[in-house]
Amino acid sequence: MFITLEGIDRSGKTTQAAMLARELGDGTLLLREPGGTPLGERIREILKDPELEIGAGIELLLFSAARGQLMGDVIVPAIQAGRDVVCDRFVDSSVAYQGAAGGLGVEHVEQFNERVTQGWMPDLTLLLRVDAERAEARGQERLRAGEADGTDRFEGEGIELQRTVAAAYDEIARRHPERIVVIDARGEPEDVHERVWAAVTNRRR
Ligand code: TYD
Repeated sequence: MFITLEGIDRSGKTTQAAMLARELGDGTLLLREPGGTPLGERIREILKDPELEIGAGIELLLFSAARGQLMGDVIVPAIQAGRDVVCDRFVDSSVAYQGAAGGLGVEHVEQFNERVTQGWMPDLTLLLRVDAERAEARGQERLRAGEADGTDRFEGEGIELQRTVAAAYDEIARRHPERIVVIDARGEPEDVHERVWAAVTNRRR
């Protein structure tokens, strides 16, 4: 199965993606966007560089370049080999961040994404839902713990943007109920993982 995880910053996606990949077992491919290929990792550095000013339209192109490469070089071959693939963020991130928050438009970005992925879509997308305030509090804890330094282009974005992105994700989930399952991401990682695993096993049947 090709499974993607989505959610606002600090919703716990990365932890959940790792736990899910472990539970799915050996041979599962765990990926993150942007990244996962040498080109993708280089594009990730550009996107995170606080010295660069990058508008939403150009951001979409950069994220899409990384995604196109990941799709062609890694995801499609893995799916064809029958492997499970777990990806931390995918097309819905562009719809929420560049389409809704960045003002490019949800439908425009959805159509653009189709060309980038050549029609391939996840079998299941898990939207980890927490409110922006709770995610913000987690971010402050990480800053204090020294796990983040608050200097990359995406870390200083503020709660207003997180609220807009959270609302956009809710809309995206309503638009694609056949693909997207909303997971309550409050609480301990183990509890959230149980909800994630229930959604996955439910889809596998
Ligand atoms: P990252 O450090 O991976 O954040 P997180 O752990 O929250 O996923 O940085 C990814 C950032 O890039 C995040 O703020 C969301 C943003 N993003 C987009 O704006 N559009 C996209 O298409 C993708 C994949 C990510």
